[in-house]
Amino acid sequence: MAGGALRPAPPAPPEQLRTTHRASPLIQASDVWYRHTKDKCQARGLDAAVRPGEYIAVLGRNGVGKSTFGKLLIGLHQHERGAVVTAGMDTRKTSVAAICRRVGYLFQNPAHQLFTGRVIDEILFGLRIAGVEGDEAVRRARETLEFVGLDHKHEQHPLKLSQGERKRLAAGTVLALRPDGMILDEPTTGQDHRRLTYLLRLMENVNRDSSTAIVMVTHDMDVVASYATRVIGLSDGAVAFDGRMDELFANAAAMQRLGVRPPEVVQVANEVTSLDLGLPKSPEDLVGRLVGHDLVVEAPEPVLELNQHRTSGR
Ligand SMILES: Nc1ncnc2c1ncn2[C@@H]1O[C@H](COP(=O)(O)OP(=O)(O)OP(=O)(O)O)[C@@H](O)[C@H]1O
Ligand SMILES: [Mg+2]
Repeated sequence: MAGGALRPAPPAPPEQLRTTHRASPLIQASDVWYRHTKDKCQARGLDAAVRPGEYIAVLGRNGVGKSTFGKLLIGLHQHERGAVVTAGMDTRKTSVAAICRRVGYLFQNPAHQLFTGRVIDEILFGLRIAGVEGDEAVRRARETLEFVGLDHKHEQHPLKLSQGERKRLAAGTVLALRPDGMILDEPTTGQDHRRLTYLLRLMENVNRDSSTAIVMVTHDMDVVASYATRVIGLSDGAVAFDGRMDELFANAAAMQRLGVRPPEVVQVANEVTSLDLGLPKSPEDLVGRLVGHDLVVEAPEPVLELNQHRTSGR
């Protein structure tokens, strides 16, 4: 992330900051092989590139290796074969700490990265390792806590926070370092709707305004549809799908392989499109055409009421 405050700035012209396939990758994984134990390979020739400014969703069935993939990208797991170069660093020759200063990592379980006795110390710890000390470190830590909605809890013990708050604190430890990229492993679990929206907007702002690449492991297809610009789908230790959201939603075989279903709104749109109803002349006409296709169950009361109001208002 470029220097400057963390606060959301007015959006920059999209063409300037968004993904460009001409930009050299922030992360490049080439023919990566990895196994946790002798009997099973979790990565079998993984190829993936993440470019500056991209917002990528990582999808795949439970236990397929999404978290393993994220950890391979920052060197937390060391691959046996192939190459991973993250922010210009060979992950086999560089410390995880050095890599995480450029590309932060949010664990699926935030307890794995919270270890101090005070909320603010979690942020200060990372800043100190990055060489930010004294008043400047405190200022940035408070600013970050405010950013993730936890400033009022800066003196609390992290273990007293709710699961959702711990996720936001862990996200704060990453954000405070103003990284060029972030790998977020299921950041949306444990958040109520309001906080979830807040967290996602925050990530969206950071992605858009600072061109920070985001790689988000998630099962939430609404989140994928609303925010991600690209999907990397994992299956059987390899990248089984790499493309845009709409390409995935139009590819039933790929969705089946990844164990995902499109969001409801996309499902309904697909069904309506597949019925080939032609252009309706009115809302009632549309409903009439849909009746009998299992998409409309009851008479369209609100539509009728709306028309009655219109009529009576004349
Ligand atoms: N440290 C480990 N030692 C041995 N096996 C492991 C280890 N970590 C993960 N595994 C196994 O590797 C496989 C991939 O795990 P991983 O956590 O990467 O999957 P995931 O796609 O993130 O799963 P989930 O959707 O449940 O988060 C699983 O079969 C898991 O049991
Ligand atoms: Mg996982």
